[in-house]
Amino acid sequence: MASTDLAALVARGLAPHEARWLSEEFTDPSALETAVARRLAGEPLQYVIGHWPFRSLDLVVDENVLIPRPETEELVDVALVELAASGVAAPRILDLGCGSGAIGLALLAELEERGILATLVALDASPAALAVARRNALAHGLSRVSFVQSSWFDGLDASLRAGFDLVVANPPYVAAGEMESLDPVLAYEPRAALVAPDTAAAPGFGDLAVIIAEVREWMSVSSALVVEHGMHQGEAALAAARAAGFSEVEDHLDMAGHARILVARRS
Ligand SMILES: C[S@@+](CC[C@H](N)C(=O)[O-])C[C@H]1O[C@@H](n2cnc3c(N)ncnc32)[C@H](O)[C@@H]1O
Repeated sequence: MASTDLAALVARGLAPHEARWLSEEFTDPSALETAVARRLAGEPLQYVIGHWPFRSLDLVVDENVLIPRPETEELVDVALVELAASGVAAPRILDLGCGSGAIGLALLAELEERGILATLVALDASPAALAVARRNALAHGLSRVSFVQSSWFDGLDASLRAGFDLVVANPPYVAAGEMESLDPVLAYEPRAALVAPDTAAAPGFGDLAVIIAEVREWMSVSSALVVEHGMHQGEAALAAARAAGFSEVEDHLDMAGHARILVARRS
């Protein structure tokens, strides 16, 4: 696209990098016009483009899934370290609240690059999110995945008890009362992907509380839970993990220096 056309998009209100990305993505003028209108109306760029990078994968994203976040990429690093330390040759991974499949599929792909053939159960309560995760698995040729629709552990087959060497999760952890003060872009994402009930331990901690309390029986010996939580939920997460019987627990800092990733080892 000519620089004068890009300048025209910027004059209409797009940031220069967005004008460039949209014009590279949509070469048909009417498709570009629709995309520009959606973006100018406030829709996140990621949904308008329809795909977004996460680690080594380009993932389909739509309004049924959370837009994968950079801090969640850090969770994948922490999970890879845990798996390496466990020494399990063919790890079985559970991704709770998989959304687009970001965490679990990135793990499968990166482990495969290292010659490790992991298997993944990608679980979500939302059938529409699972459909997106399925598309992403297919697009990246990741076949050792099964998809389970379940509210946390309720629908998991009992035969999987004690079966996972790694459990990863980025569950909803925003308190309903916080939503209005946060980035308006969140209003475009599924509320069920973001908002969790408050508990006495912390606002928005309801889903984390369930996961941490119930996960242990699904974990093999020498396994780890690696779970993202909100900036003010670190103490609650550590306390919940100790109460659930984990003796080895740590909270990792994200790049901004906030404790955001709980690791609880079953050893
Ligand atoms: C914060 S999003 C994370 C999505 C993805 N893992 C990521 O990091 O981009 C949380 C996900 O949990 C799912 N979820 C919410 N409540 C759930 C429940 N009770 N059981 C299973 N999944 C649930 C949502 O549908 C959503 O896909």
